[in-house]
Amino acid sequence: MSPSYALLNNPQLTVGIMAEPTSSNDELLGGKPSMEINGDCFLVPGPVRMSQNTLKSMSHPVITARGSEYREIMAELNGLLRVAFNLSETSFEKGKRSFEGDDGYSTIVVSGSGTAAMEMVIANRFSKKDHVLVPTNGKFGERVADITKEFSNVKHIDFGWGKSFDLNQLENELAIGNFSGLAFCHNETSAGITQDAEGLSEIAKKYDVALIIDGITSVGGLPVHPKKWDAEAVVVGAQKCTAGPSGVAAIAINNSYIDYVNEKNKTGELSSRYYLDLIPALKRAGDDQTSWTPAINLTIGWIQALRELKEEGLENRWERCENLSKGVQNLFSDLGFAFLADESQRSATATAILYPKGIDDKWRSRLAKQYQTQVIGGQDHLKGKMFRIGSMGITEKEEMIEGCKRMISCFTDFGIDLPTINVESYFK
Ligand SMILES: Cc1ncc(COP(=O)(O)O)c(C=O)c1O
Repeated sequence: MSPSYALLNNPQLTVGIMAEPTSSNDELLGGKPSMEINGDCFLVPGPVRMSQNTLKSMSHPVITARGSEYREIMAELNGLLRVAFNLSETSFEKGKRSFEGDDGYSTIVVSGSGTAAMEMVIANRFSKKDHVLVPTNGKFGERVADITKEFSNVKHIDFGWGKSFDLNQLENELAIGNFSGLAFCHNETSAGITQDAEGLSEIAKKYDVALIIDGITSVGGLPVHPKKWDAEAVVVGAQKCTAGPSGVAAIAINNSYIDYVNEKNKTGELSSRYYLDLIPALKRAGDDQTSWTPAINLTIGWIQALRELKEEGLENRWERCENLSKGVQNLFSDLGFAFLADESQRSATATAILYPKGIDDKWRSRLAKQYQTQVIGGQDHLKGKMFRIGSMGITEKEEMIEGCKRMISCFTDFGIDLPTINVESYFK
């Protein structure tokens, strides 16, 4: 087998042809592989590879945060974010309130990673008088529970990593409890499972509770329908499915959310906020501005990444991610591997695969070092027990095929006996 994939859009990472094993660690890992490597494969579930044009766009000369030039940038960014969030389109022009659509949703750009945006959404909406139901099946859902606990009362139901939520159980909780919110992580990147958001939205509507969604690795990568689901708030991180830079995020909130916060602000019962205060941020958005100095160059980069998403088409991107993940899942299933997530809800943007007996993260180290291929490991109690493959952002089929071939070779180096398989045939 002679992989030939040469990565064109990330030259910094492709200059190194396979390094000779130098350290004793290489000996430990099984010595020099027989493959010749021509480029890196970066198959991590975020941060993902950025396009050359996105990288280039960020080396923009410094501009002021309050001038007309930056206001044009914010206007376009908000307009493009509405596309990624699957909201109604608005004008991308300055002065036209591009953040606000006729569907009752508004977008707000947040300087900070996805977690900051989640904190903004929760801190502004819930107080210690509220009870919020938070079902989880992985690390990022647990983080939703942890953030929510800081600002309100939480009933956290842990279904176990990779296990589907029991909607009947959740419905019973909502029926008997005094909840004002249901918050969850839509695409659980730590376990490779996507929640049944439609089902969750139905029970949230039935019991009239605010639906709050961490869409950090779903928005832009798999179907998200804020309006249909009547979600009060959805969050996205730039560095995931939209292939933008790390350190900037956005939220989409609906008018019910805004009206509620405005009303509660009068009573003073909401939690204290300052940097992440949402109503002033909305007011500033009305003038294509942000409350504080924005992450200027990151937002410029994000615009380019979002233009590429728009050009590809949101649904086409969903489909590409799904095809890549289906290919990975069918391939590794036929090779005899087991998955962490329940089969019916496996994610289209992150696949969690359990290591075969006798393998641990030394495999990943070797894969990175000898095969210039990066996937990510398990988190918390699953560290060293599994690996995760990202299929989000701008990853192309050729890179995935090549990466999978290298993974197979690397398992073979560790003495894992795998059937001969035509990798390409999984990615038609
Ligand atoms: C689903 C999900 N939620 C939240 C986060 C945290 O986002 P950030 O690291 O951007 O704060 C991640 C990061 O991987 C994630 O995958």
